[in-house]
Amino acid sequence: MSNIKCKRIAILTSGGDAPGMNAAIRAVVLAAHHYHIDVIGFYHGYNGLICAENISQAKLIKLSDINSVIHRGGTFLKSARCEQMLTEDGLEQAVKTLTKENIDALIVVGGDGSFNGLLALKDYWQGQLIGIPGTIDNDLDGTDFTIGFATAVNTAINAIDKIRDTADAFERIFIVELMGRHSGHITFNVGIACGAEQVLSFENFSAAEQQSKLKNLASEIKNAQQNRHSSYIIVIAENLWPGGAIELAKNLTESAGIDCTACVLGHIQRGGSPVPKDRLLATKMGVAAVQAIITGENHIMIAEQNSGTCYVALEQAVKHRKKVSQQLIDAQTNILALTAQNQY
Ligand code: F6P
Repeated sequence: MSNIKCKRIAILTSGGDAPGMNAAIRAVVLAAHHYHIDVIGFYHGYNGLICAENISQAKLIKLSDINSVIHRGGTFLKSARCEQMLTEDGLEQAVKTLTKENIDALIVVGGDGSFNGLLALKDYWQGQLIGIPGTIDNDLDGTDFTIGFATAVNTAINAIDKIRDTADAFERIFIVELMGRHSGHITFNVGIACGAEQVLSFENFSAAEQQSKLKNLASEIKNAQQNRHSSYIIVIAENLWPGGAIELAKNLTESAGIDCTACVLGHIQRGGSPVPKDRLLATKMGVAAVQAIITGENHIMIAEQNSGTCYVALEQAVKHRKKVSQQLIDAQTNILALTAQNQY
């Protein structure tokens, strides 16, 4: 007879959806099935736990439900941001549901906001709480990668490569705004991989430098236009420049007569079929989450470090936003210096 204590795992996806969330749910269900554990899916993020009277918010996930989902973007459990999960009322309601459904462990696939929900629940519920990092932003501390990041980077690169073709044809200047909320992992990775002439992100620019940056940008663009006769692409992180890419384009036109086109990539970066790296990461993490539950782990995030899976305390994962690698920032600075000197 099995000595595994856990009989029922609950799972939900929360916050901004990320390609690979379906693959993570699938892995959890398959691993749990192997150990004869039921998996109950809660719909619409934490709302599914809070609005439990509505029977459609919770459902036993059968093996047939996870057929053909590994390649799908979005999340079949749906997602939501749920402020109520940080209120006493919301937390008490969530505990009622977990108790009523005889849940032993809760797995949440999401980002820092979602993990704050798990941490809030810690003081109200005795069951095991496990986070799987699923966010395109890649900003959770303690894991080298989050599920969805590789796909978002790939999607943005594909889009910017296309922009480059038309930009080249007209020797035009484009400003492309990328997601990432308050961190520049997407912006730096995409910018460097696309050979963007400029990468503007939280890590190399602050609002106090706005006027001087505008001047420098204008002179570098003019210099490049005179000497290289080619396109010029600036990638910029969302929430960085007041008014975003559209305003920066206006500022360059008004202050220096530079004609440029703004393009906000937006939610296209969150959708689409997960790339192999995200499918594999999600699968490894989903299986690791079930194994962590079986071995009695609690209040942890499943993480990937140096290609291996490990556990990181939830508190640590959300305490600091993971920094963009200094190597990447330095690489861009060096490339920029060469571009400015027209050395390539
Ligand atoms: O956290 C993921 C993310 O896509 C961020 O990059 C972005 O800032 C935010 O979500 C957008 O959220 P929403 O879809 O709610 O506008």
